[in-house]
Amino acid sequence: MCDERRPNDMERITTPEQADDFIEHQYASIREQVGDRKVLLALSGGVDSSVVAALLIKAIGKQLVCVHVNHGLLRKGEPEQVIDVFRNQMRANLIYVDATDRFLDKLAGVSDPETKRKIIGGEFIKVFADEAGKLKGIKFLAQGTIWPDILESEKGIKAHHNAGGLPEDMDFELVEPIKILYKDEVRVVGERLGLPKSMVYRQPFPGPGLGVRCVGAITRDRLEAVRESDAILREEFAKHGLEGKVWQYFTVVPDFKSTGIKDGKRSFEWPVIIRAVNTKDAMTAEVEDIPFELMKHLVNRITTEVKGVNRVLYDFTPKPTGTIEYE
Ligand code: XMP
Repeated sequence: MCDERRPNDMERITTPEQADDFIEHQYASIREQVGDRKVLLALSGGVDSSVVAALLIKAIGKQLVCVHVNHGLLRKGEPEQVIDVFRNQMRANLIYVDATDRFLDKLAGVSDPETKRKIIGGEFIKVFADEAGKLKGIKFLAQGTIWPDILESEKGIKAHHNAGGLPEDMDFELVEPIKILYKDEVRVVGERLGLPKSMVYRQPFPGPGLGVRCVGAITRDRLEAVRESDAILREEFAKHGLEGKVWQYFTVVPDFKSTGIKDGKRSFEWPVIIRAVNTKDAMTAEVEDIPFELMKHLVNRITTEVKGVNRVLYDFTPKPTGTIEYE
C-alpha cells in the first residue's frame, strides 16, 4: 500500500537523489498494491495527474489505463501535449476522448458561473464513468491527491477526492502514490521521471478551464478568442523571461462588444482583458508590473491575430477586491 500519512520526520524532497529514493519506494508499493491487475487514471495533463501517470507507467506499464477527457476548454496545445508525452514518448495505454461537442452543447446559453461550473464538473464525471464502464474488470483508480489536499479535507475546507461523484456501483480501490508530497516535491519528482518542464512547472489552471474566462454564456467563436489570446500571452511571457516568474497569467474575453476601426472600416468586436498576478497562496494577489513596451507588443499581436477582437485591456485590480479568475 502507498503510505497513508506523511511521516513527521520526513525531509522535504528537494534533490534528485531524494526524488529517486521516493520513486523507488513508490514503484515497490504500487506493485505490491495492484499486483498484475489494471489501474484507471483520469489524466488531465495537470502537474499532479501527470506525475501519477508517469510513476504508474514506469511501475506497471500497460496495466495503467489513462483517460484524457478533452472538454473543449483546455488551453491551446494541451491535449496534443498529453498525447505526445504519454502515448508517443512514454508508450502509455491512453484513451483520448474528444468530448468538446458534448460539453459545449450542454453549456450553450448558460451564463450563471456556478451553473457553468456544475455542468462542467458533472459532465466530466459522466464522460469518465462512460469510459470506465466500457473497460471491464478494473478494480483500481489512481488519483493525484497531494498532502495539502489531505490536510484541507481533514480541516473540512474541501473534499479531496478528485473523482468523487462517480456512480456508486463503481467501487474502486484508490491508488494515491503522491499523497504524502507537497506541491514543490511533486515537481522535483516529476522532473526526475522525465516529464517536460513545461508540464511540471506550469501555472495553476482551474478545472473548468477556459470556461471561466469566456465570461457569461460560452460561444465557440468567443472561446476561440480566449484560447488564441491566451496562447499569444504565454508565448510572449516565455520570450520575455516572465514564464516561471509571474504566478498566473491569462486572458479573459467578456461578453460585450465595442466600436473600433479595422482596415479603415468600422468594427464592432470584443475586448481581450489581460490578467497577470503574483501570490503565495491565492488568497490575496498583487498585479504584475508588465513592461510598457511588452504591453504595446501584446496589444498589437492580439488585435491583429485574434479574430473578433479590437481592443486589449489590462486588469490592474489586486485580490481583494477582484478575485484572480473572472467567474
Ligand atoms: P480566485 O478566482 O478564487 O482563484 O481568486 C484562486 C485560484 O484558484 C483557481 N481557481 C480554480 N481552480 N477550479 C479550480 O480547480 C475552480 O473552479 C477554480 N476557480 C479558481 C484560480 O485559477 C486561482 O489560481
